[in-house]
Amino acid sequence: MNNAFVLAQISDLHIKTAGRLSYKKVDTLGALKNCIAQLNALRPAPDAVAITGDLTDFGKDEEYAEVRALLDTLTLPWFAIPGNHDDRAAFRRAFADKPWLPVAGEFINWTVDDFPVRLIGLDSTVPEKPWGELCDARAAWLREQLAAAPDTPTILMLHHHPFISGIDHMDRQNLRDDGRLARVLINAPQVERVLCGHVHRFMVAQLAGVVVCTAPGTSHQVAPDFTPDGPAHFVLEPPGMLLHRWSRAHGVSTHYLPLGQYDGPWPFYDENGLID
Ligand SMILES: [Fe+2]
Repeated sequence: MNNAFVLAQISDLHIKTAGRLSYKKVDTLGALKNCIAQLNALRPAPDAVAITGDLTDFGKDEEYAEVRALLDTLTLPWFAIPGNHDDRAAFRRAFADKPWLPVAGEFINWTVDDFPVRLIGLDSTVPEKPWGELCDARAAWLREQLAAAPDTPTILMLHHHPFISGIDHMDRQNLRDDGRLARVLINAPQVERVLCGHVHRFMVAQLAGVVVCTAPGTSHQVAPDFTPDGPAHFVLEPPGMLLHRWSRAHGVSTHYLPLGQYDGPWPFYDENGLID
């Protein structure tokens, strides 16, 4: 059994068709191309890539065709859950050949046991609604999955953030579950991280003692505006990804990587020691 595992997380790709810009501003397709090139070039290569929702902007088949064509250039195994901008039926059509995609059932929930860390993808979407839910059926499925491997380190991912970020327009569309996810996690100490997308920013929070990380978007970020009832605005800060590095001895450490080309790496030391 391997004693280390690296999961890259990308999120909120928001792909449109035929070069159209998201919100008439954002080249989401170009951004994803850059992101995939950067992922493919990472050394050492991550073991897998998790995509935490909003693969498309409007859930259209043509948008899935665009995103699928690009994802097929990714040289790493990848897994995806839907977000509020996805459409379950179109998502299923686009990824029907993927072994992780469930063939039956209403929700796109899956579990992957290919790695030393178990990956659970939880579909938190509500058709036509921007917020998320963990209904009785999905909570029962999650409890069942967790009970099946109580001693295996596990990373759980869902699109909607199960906490209050302070960005009001996003918090009006967070996970609405009346504390259900927290109650599940209290009885599942094997869950070492919860990963989300949706908020288009890197955030860290805690739920029932488990660290929850949200990934930055691969293109645009939500403006970090804590004004009560502040406007729903985005900013073109550097896009990013997360690398979650797990080892049996030390658990998970999460690294934030801005996407783009930056100077370096340069040495701290030369033959005389620390460079002055
Ligand atoms: Fe999004």
